[in-house]
Amino acid sequence: MPDSLQIVPLPHACGAEAHGVDVRTLDADAFAVLRQAWLENLVLVIHGQQLTDAELTAFGQRFGVLDELPPVGTGQKPRDNKYISVISNVIEDGVPIGGLADDEVIWHSDTSYRERPPSASLLYALELPAWGGNTGFANMYLALETLDPALRAQVDRLSIKNDTTYNAGGQLREGFEPVTDVRNCPGAIHPIVRTHPETRHDCLYLGRRRNAYVMGLEVDESEALLDRLWAHATQDFLYWHHEWTVGDVVVWDNRCTMHRRDHFDPATRRVMHRAQARDDLRPERDEGAKAMPHPRGHAIPEAIGA
Ligand code: OGA
Ligand code: MN
Repeated sequence: MPDSLQIVPLPHACGAEAHGVDVRTLDADAFAVLRQAWLENLVLVIHGQQLTDAELTAFGQRFGVLDELPPVGTGQKPRDNKYISVISNVIEDGVPIGGLADDEVIWHSDTSYRERPPSASLLYALELPAWGGNTGFANMYLALETLDPALRAQVDRLSIKNDTTYNAGGQLREGFEPVTDVRNCPGAIHPIVRTHPETRHDCLYLGRRRNAYVMGLEVDESEALLDRLWAHATQDFLYWHHEWTVGDVVVWDNRCTMHRRDHFDPATRRVMHRAQARDDLRPERDEGAKAMPHPRGHAIPEAIGA
């Protein structure tokens, strides 16, 4: 293991920087340190990388099984590499080279509408805009720990249907019909409180707000409950925003975080490459979950006004 490898937790609700790392050449011991730091801190920021797509997917594969990516948006350039998603506002010859354009991207965890959603997402910055485009990460262990106890008891055994129809930028996916009734939209049903399969701590798992539906409730009850959960889970003490530098690789754990992105300067280019890996498990609630909060699941009392 290189002596220079250093993990520095960020002074926010989640996240750590890994210093002294070249992700192309990590040996097994160094990767084990990195992976453990990822489980403990939920999001890893690694600066100064220079990667081909093959090197990005090779690194991604060390976190799990390389995962199928979401379908490209309508009219978008087809993928060159089936494990690399291009996230970009760049248009070449009238064709967008990637997804999510320059829009704000709402809070979500990646592809939660699948039965077996990805555990790790990796985003690598190649070109950055003049302003905006920061990416926020929120800690869903801490969201659960700080949830009003009565609300926690209410949602303890409930599940959400995670709609597939729109992406987190709000675009209708190719081949899908607009949603008219949230009870009928396509998507996987997952528990609201899930147990992380590796850390064994419980966390909140909301997917995304748009067209979510709490199973078994009247639609207006489901909407009211989701509004309360989302108002809680998006408070600013739960997240921080990463300001990108070219060469950054950020790896987040979709099982216990949500992320979003700011709008950015539409006149300048932002080009990111993304890979994702899965653990091949369905999100589940486990009665054997640890009673103690996750190490990054302790509330910061000042932040919640306690
Ligand atoms: C993603 C995503 C955010 C960003 O790739 O899944 O949400 O910062 N991207 O582009
Ligand atoms: Mn995403």
